[in-house]
Amino acid sequence: MILNRVKVELGERSYEVRIGSGLIARAGAEVAPLLRRKRVAVVTDETVAPHHLPALTAALEAEGIGSSALILPAGEATKGWENLARCTEWLLDQKVERKDVVIAFGGGVIGDLVGFSAAILRRGVRFVQLPTTLLAQVDSSVGGKTGINTPQGKNLVGAFHQPSLVLADIEVLTTLPDRDFLSGYGEVVKYGLLGDAAFFDWLEREGPAIRVGDKAARLRAVTRSVEMKAGIVSRDETEEGERALLNLGHTFCHALEKATGYSDRLLHGEGVAIGCALAFELSSRLGFCSQEEPSRVRAHLKAMGMKVDIRDIPGELPGADTLIALMGQDKKVVDGKLRFILAHRIGQAFVADDVPGDAVRAVLDEALGR
Ligand SMILES: NC(=O)c1ccc[n+]([C@@H]2O[C@H](COP(=O)([O-])OP(=O)(O)OC[C@H]3O[C@@H](n4cnc5c(N)ncnc54)[C@H](O)[C@@H]3O)[C@@H](O)[C@H]2O)c1
Repeated sequence: MILNRVKVELGERSYEVRIGSGLIARAGAEVAPLLRRKRVAVVTDETVAPHHLPALTAALEAEGIGSSALILPAGEATKGWENLARCTEWLLDQKVERKDVVIAFGGGVIGDLVGFSAAILRRGVRFVQLPTTLLAQVDSSVGGKTGINTPQGKNLVGAFHQPSLVLADIEVLTTLPDRDFLSGYGEVVKYGLLGDAAFFDWLEREGPAIRVGDKAARLRAVTRSVEMKAGIVSRDETEEGERALLNLGHTFCHALEKATGYSDRLLHGEGVAIGCALAFELSSRLGFCSQEEPSRVRAHLKAMGMKVDIRDIPGELPGADTLIALMGQDKKVVDGKLRFILAHRIGQAFVADDVPGDAVRAVLDEALGR
């Protein structure tokens, strides 16, 4: 079995992200060295459980590791106070102790929720991420941001709590619906756009193979994405500087997610892809990059069959001013000024504070066709 290992270097809290095919089947052997006693608590969701929980339970059993599982509803709405309480109290009922390990088995929703629950349970227990969506494998399972949504906004309550291990089995992606896969691919493209032009070139060539399930291509795409995230997180764990680059496309994305009520109309990674295209448009309008760059970004997203334009989002959307106001509630706003991640070219993003509102409005008006 080919197994790629990427280290997230964070001193005593360093950990490995292992990426390969068939990792769930050997999860017991991978997790065993972390355990003080042969018992784990697994939290997953109702969609992942029927597909993959029996294989995980069997893999744990094969190493003599007992497990119990909590199966939460699937979807973004799960990531709130109610399920945080449910999950945390369930872990207490399972008698999970300080030295035990909790396994988060699912997409970004489960990873964020269970990671946060592990952070507050007995003032912090260790947890292992077994990400099952492309988005979770390349982004949310790595870096230690955990949390929940509240009526005031997304991810406003949470903690930095690094996992002890991440096992990304690309085999589990075969059961992921195409739309969710492509949503995660939005984050993969983001890495090329923000910091690795050669990776973006490669994605332009290999994207279609990645989409239809080419294992070698998927392995490389996930590994390169994780390498980039791990590098950035190692250098800037708590987002004092460079980590902000990971938010390329996200200021636009968050406004669009709010405008669509975090519904099925727009998945997170779809918003990131549209947001990246808009960030490149804005960069070009402000003279930071040539007009060819946004065209190339858009061409690749189109070639992949992804949402590219705001107008690809079904249903009514508010105007530019409302969208800008929605950006204003974003927690990434510094001292009331809008902050964007812009780019000099593909592969070279930078943080721009104090971006003129007129330029943002013009880009949005054009995108909205108004
Ligand atoms: N912590 C971070 O750094 C970070 C980064 C990016 C995104 N996020 C968060 O991640 C969340 C989005 O993550 P997501 O896109 O993985 O969403 P998700 O967890 O809701 O998963 C999407 C859907 O796919 C299903 N699913 C998961 N794995 C599957 C599989 N292998 N086969 C079939 N179906 C499967 C899920 O049940 C769900 O219905 C958001 O809440 C976002 O805020 C966090």
